[in-house]
Amino acid sequence: MSEPLDLAAFPADFAWGTATSAYQIEGAAAEDGRAPSIWDTFSHTPGKVDNDDHGDVACDHYHRWPEDIALMKRLGTDTYRMSVAWPRVVPSGDGPVNAAGLDFYDRLVDALLEAGITPNVTLYHWDLPQALQDRGGWTVRDTAEHLAEYASVVAARLGDRVTRWATLNEPLCSGWIGHLEGRMAPGLTDLTAAVRASYHLLLAHGLATRAIRAAAPGAQVGLVTNHSTVEAASSRPEDIAAATRMDGHTNRWWLDPVYGRGFPADMRELYGVELPERPGDLDTIATPLDWHGLNYYFPATVTDDPEGPVPHAREVRLPDVPRTGMDWQIDAGGLEALLLRLTDGYGVRELYVTENGSAFPDTVAPDGAVHDPDRARYLEQHVSACARALRKGVPLAGYYAWSLLDNFEWAYGYDKRFGLVHVDYATQTRTLKTSGLRYAEIIRAHREAHA
Ligand code: IFM
Repeated sequence: MSEPLDLAAFPADFAWGTATSAYQIEGAAAEDGRAPSIWDTFSHTPGKVDNDDHGDVACDHYHRWPEDIALMKRLGTDTYRMSVAWPRVVPSGDGPVNAAGLDFYDRLVDALLEAGITPNVTLYHWDLPQALQDRGGWTVRDTAEHLAEYASVVAARLGDRVTRWATLNEPLCSGWIGHLEGRMAPGLTDLTAAVRASYHLLLAHGLATRAIRAAAPGAQVGLVTNHSTVEAASSRPEDIAAATRMDGHTNRWWLDPVYGRGFPADMRELYGVELPERPGDLDTIATPLDWHGLNYYFPATVTDDPEGPVPHAREVRLPDVPRTGMDWQIDAGGLEALLLRLTDGYGVRELYVTENGSAFPDTVAPDGAVHDPDRARYLEQHVSACARALRKGVPLAGYYAWSLLDNFEWAYGYDKRFGLVHVDYATQTRTLKTSGLRYAEIIRAHREAHA
């Protein structure tokens, strides 16, 4: 099954990790002072999530975190990417701090460090306090300022032990999927709202970067964005133009401003929405970063679709290509290409793959094991892509498998399983899948190669 991996390409201090996010695993939605987020509201709205699943209990990580840290130890990972739930720490978004919420993360960080696992903390993985949504959410500027205030509270409390921070996870999903496509919270389908939200998300990122550094000197601050390589479905000029638009929508809109190029002019014209820009904002958004996190899952092939929604480019489903249980095309070459683009095109000097993984319909076999050769193969192919990128000079410092656990996969609910660890939601039993065992083997082999 295993393809030979070029583990010598990975530097000795390369960090192997797993990633999760608060709403997807914690549960305890109404405990210890946590208030609802937009995802509580969205998932409790009938018809928004498959099976009407929600994160009320999820993986019950809020109570079972010692067991989850023990699983990380079995994997042998160096680092763990987690997110802090804003509605646990500042339940109303901009009001008083909830001590019990902060205490939870304080204990978690201590236990991770005790286990020899370095935390990498994301401040915003989509769980906006509902109270802020009620006042306009990401469509209003205040929300960006409140994110920075909350970031400063968390950094002041954990910054003596946590050095690696990310401001936002995948602002594309919050902006486009949440406000334009309506498939994620808050479920809007409004271009003006989406463009304003995208602007305020990036502004929040810049403000929070500065706030974290002020509260925790020495903090290494980054941004986590998700991208796809984009190909035209044919050599027709219309399809090539559609691919340029899709690339603008998926990649350039989120990277150009962060790397000092401003918002791409072609996309501003296409959206036709005035940006809520104030003097100095672009500098804030382009505050230099210590690292960049790339989340990669699939490539896109598009055709011109003049009647379709912005960016008037429709994804084409290629026949006869390997796919995951999400129906996402598997193409590890896309990961390599994006790592090279961030390095050569944007001058990123320290990179992490902050998420990469696959969903497949796993089951526990009669022998008690979870055999998931497809996920193990996906992992190997993408680790190989990282090795190729490293050989080409990409400053890749770590790889986080998505995800440690099967968890609440947003609008898909619990049916889509991304974990290296299987979760039986009825009993909360955790079972390391064979892909998890393979990951542990890779990590061990890399260590031995450098011993
Ligand atoms: O589960 C999500 C995660 O929250 C963000 N990135 C993509 C993953 C898989 O869809």
